[in-house]
Amino acid sequence: MSRYLTHVPCITHNKAAHMALSFHTREFFKTSSGAGFGLTFDDVRLRTQYSDIAPSDVSLSTWFSRRIRLNIPIVSAAMDTVTEHKLAIELALLGGIGVIHRNMPPEEQGKEVERVKFSLNGFIEEPKCIKNMDWTVEQTLKWREDKRHKFHSFPVLNAEGKLAGLMTRNDFDFSVTADTRIRDAMSVNLVTMPAGTSINDAYGTMIQHKRKVLPLVDGEGYLKGLFVFSDLKRIKEGNSLHNVDANGKLRVAAAIGAGPSAVARASLLIGKGADAIVFDTAHGDTATVLETLQELKRLFPDTDIVVGNISEAESAKRLARAGADGIKVGQGAGSICTTRIVTGVGRPQVTAVYEVARMLEGWGIPVCADGGIRYSGDITVALAAGASSVMLGNLLAGTDESPGDIVVINGMRMKKYRGMGSVGAIMGNPDRYGHSVKVEKGKVVAEGVEGHVPCKGKLEEVLFQYIGGLKSGMAAFGARTIAEAQERARFERMTNAGVIESHPHDIFSVSGAPNYSRFGT
Ligand code: XMP
Repeated sequence: MSRYLTHVPCITHNKAAHMALSFHTREFFKTSSGAGFGLTFDDVRLRTQYSDIAPSDVSLSTWFSRRIRLNIPIVSAAMDTVTEHKLAIELALLGGIGVIHRNMPPEEQGKEVERVKFSLNGFIEEPKCIKNMDWTVEQTLKWREDKRHKFHSFPVLNAEGKLAGLMTRNDFDFSVTADTRIRDAMSVNLVTMPAGTSINDAYGTMIQHKRKVLPLVDGEGYLKGLFVFSDLKRIKEGNSLHNVDANGKLRVAAAIGAGPSAVARASLLIGKGADAIVFDTAHGDTATVLETLQELKRLFPDTDIVVGNISEAESAKRLARAGADGIKVGQGAGSICTTRIVTGVGRPQVTAVYEVARMLEGWGIPVCADGGIRYSGDITVALAAGASSVMLGNLLAGTDESPGDIVVINGMRMKKYRGMGSVGAIMGNPDRYGHSVKVEKGKVVAEGVEGHVPCKGKLEEVLFQYIGGLKSGMAAFGARTIAEAQERARFERMTNAGVIESHPHDIFSVSGAPNYSRFGT
């Protein structure tokens, strides 16, 4: 295994590098781990402390990986009943990030990534251009229709491929006849800026010159991209929580497995604009995952690679040394997981998160706590134990934006939610649990189940509750930021009686709570 221990310099781009778990937290987990038992969400809660902080003062800005920021610590699970482009777009608009699942051919997954990247277009790197100035306006409109381009602004290139003019909606509308040539219809009085112009400079110039599109050109006049005012306006005036890249496009991550086919999938996804690649494997501390990780870091040093899943400090050390930019923790905690039951292997989630985070202190590698979160209070606990973000499956399944049809069961509207290691999901994705051979024979050994969750409504409304609960929790022990939550946390062990007392009790029924049900929200 020593070949994985090559030294990779510790890149400290982010605050997670300075993450420090409190003395109390270290002592607390030392006692339980020392006694040989692991703790999970119901086993612990956080104690209140003096606070001069209101929930509205709390900032949830954090990191998914070394270079990928989040404005809320929420990541959606790479599951085929949770994350496709619709949910990833909405989640990025709300400040988090979605991980597009891999239960589909790579090309299709690439299209899902593209759909997210093109949904909020601050900067278009490769604008659609009119390449023949002798086309008539009629011909051009037919081309636009055939190609299903919804917009009306097109740069016009001359025979050398340099920018010669612009066709805008006005130019189309005011063309005298349909057989007017593009060279006569286009605007030639252009305002352009050099390649590399920032969104802010572009926005200022467009306002100053009242331009709806702004082409960028290099020193020789070749087109290098295009800003569109309506999109920039949405970004500038929009919710500052939008999780966007340097070009103002929504951020999105995409899942891969391990091995040579995973490298090919990752390279396609990166080509389509994925901001981060996320290993979606049940066991991330294996020779194949480590080899794939090192190969990806060699090929794509500028793309963040998040690796998992693990639950051991030693595994974290190996992945960190092999170049991981983020580490995902969780083995058998998920609501649809049967891994611990079927295999006898796994670790209670809060201890796993703490031990991995403790090992990574000073590395600048954020931890994502993946699985087992049922209530907003569990998010507070995961972050306080050292996670920088949480990955949610169950809590986001059943939202309007999650994939799948609505079915009515016992009069309740439901959506399917299934483990990626369930029989149905494995048939489409055998390598997640190493079952390729068995699937070929028509048999699988499942490590997950299939079921349904109630329809929950809009993601925005659902997240409002989770984020609200998290902020109230942090304010209750005086934490203004996630880093402060980790520095100030004081955990306490719950008894079974304490858990019973924590839930509503001694009333006949509970109804109408938007953030609580006995079976998770
Ligand atoms: P929650 O609790 O949010 O967990 O529903 C989602 C996470 O569960 C993992 N996952 C699985 N684990 N068998 C497993 O052991 C499975 O079939 C399975 N499918 C998903 C995954 O980490 C996900 O993010």
